[in-house]
Amino acid sequence: MSPTPFTMSDPVAPTGYSWEATSEQVAARYGIPVDRVVRFDLNTSPTPPDLAARILASGEFETSLSEYPPSDYRRLTEAAAGRYGVPIEEILVGAGADEILDIVAKTFLPAGGAAIVPVPSYAMYRVLTEQRAARLIAIPRLGADAGYAIDAARIRAATPEADLLWLCSPNNPTGLPEPDGTIASLLAAMLDDATADGRTAPVVVLDEAYAEFTGSSLHPLRASYPRLIVVRTLSKAYALAGLRVGFALAARPAIAAMEPYRPPGSVSTVSVTVATRALEDDAIVRDAVERVASERDRLTSALDRVGWHPGPSRTNFLLVAFESPERVAEVADGLLRRGLVPRTFPATHPLADHLRLTVRSTDEDDRLIAAAAELEAVREGTSR
Ligand SMILES: Cc1ncc(COP(=O)(O)O)c(C=O)c1O
Repeated sequence: MSPTPFTMSDPVAPTGYSWEATSEQVAARYGIPVDRVVRFDLNTSPTPPDLAARILASGEFETSLSEYPPSDYRRLTEAAAGRYGVPIEEILVGAGADEILDIVAKTFLPAGGAAIVPVPSYAMYRVLTEQRAARLIAIPRLGADAGYAIDAARIRAATPEADLLWLCSPNNPTGLPEPDGTIASLLAAMLDDATADGRTAPVVVLDEAYAEFTGSSLHPLRASYPRLIVVRTLSKAYALAGLRVGFALAARPAIAAMEPYRPPGSVSTVSVTVATRALEDDAIVRDAVERVASERDRLTSALDRVGWHPGPSRTNFLLVAFESPERVAEVADGLLRRGLVPRTFPATHPLADHLRLTVRSTDEDDRLIAAAAELEAVREGTSR
C-alpha cells in the first residue's frame, strides 16, 4: 500500500499547527537517499549567491560572533534602504518575512478583532489571524480566467468590520500580481470610506515576497495610505531562505508602532553580514530573475508537452491544474516516490485539484519533467 503523501499540510487550528515534512522525513518514508530529495514545495531557489560562501569561508563578520548583532541592524537597514529606495526610518528588519508578518499581527490585530484574507493565499495569514484569536473574513478571489485577482468590491464592503487586510502580490499560490491599479484604487476607496464614516482605515499588509520577479513594488503607496505595510524577503529571488532575513517597508508611524514588538536580535550576525552584502550587489537579483524567467518558460513548455498545463506565473513557481483531487493524490505519490516533493493542498482548499511546483535548477527540473512524463505514460497504459 502506498503511504499517504505528506507534503506541506496547511497548518490547522491554533492548537494543531503542523509544518512541512523535512527532507529527512520524506527520505525515510519513501526509502530514498536524502540527497535525492528535491523541494518543489517551498518556492526556494537552488543555489545561494557565491558571495555567501566567500563570506562564510573568510570568517569575517560585521561584528564578532561572541557578541550580539547591533540591535538597530544599522548597516543592513542602510543596504535595504539603498536597494528598495526608501529612507532607513521606514524599514523594519525581521527574521524572514514570516517574523515581519508576526510582528504586524501582534501590533495591529487585537484579540477579538478581524482580518480579511482574499483566498487562496499564503497560509500564514490565517495562522497568524487565528493565533491572535481574531476572526478571519475569507473573501474568495476571482477565478483562474481572471488571474485569481482579488474581488476588490467585496473586500471594500467588508473593511468596516476589519482591523487588518492581508494582501499578497504576486500571490502565493496562484503566481500572478494584481492587475495594474487594483490595489491603488482599493486603498484610495478604503481611505475615502473610512473618512466618510469617521473611523480609522484598516492596516493593509502587502506581502511582496516575490516582487523581484515582476520588477516592481507598490511601496510608494505608503505615502497616500500611511497604514500600508509592504513586506519583502531575501528568501526568494536572492536565494537566501536559510539566512532568515525580511523587511517591512512602511511610513514612520507604522514602523514606530511595530518597533516595540520586534525582538532585538532575531537575525544572526552571520545573516546580517551576508544579507548586507547581497543587498549591495546589483547583479544577484538581476541574474536570478533572468535565470528563473527562462527556466520557468522551459519548465512550463516541457510540462505542457507531457500533458500537465501550468497556468501563467510571474514568480518562481507554477500552479498546475489536474482533473480531480484524486489524480493529484496519485501524481503527488508518484513524485514523492522519486524524491520530488510537490506542494499539495488539503481537500477543503479551493486548489485541492492543483499542485504547486517550484522552478528549480535545470537538472532538478529535468527530473520533474521525466517523472511527469512517466506518470502520464503509466496512466495512458492503464486506461487502455
Ligand atoms: C507570500 C509569502 N510570504 C512570506 C513567505 C515567508 O518568507 P520568509 O522566508 O522570508 O519568512 C513566503 C514563503 O513561502 C511566501 O510565499
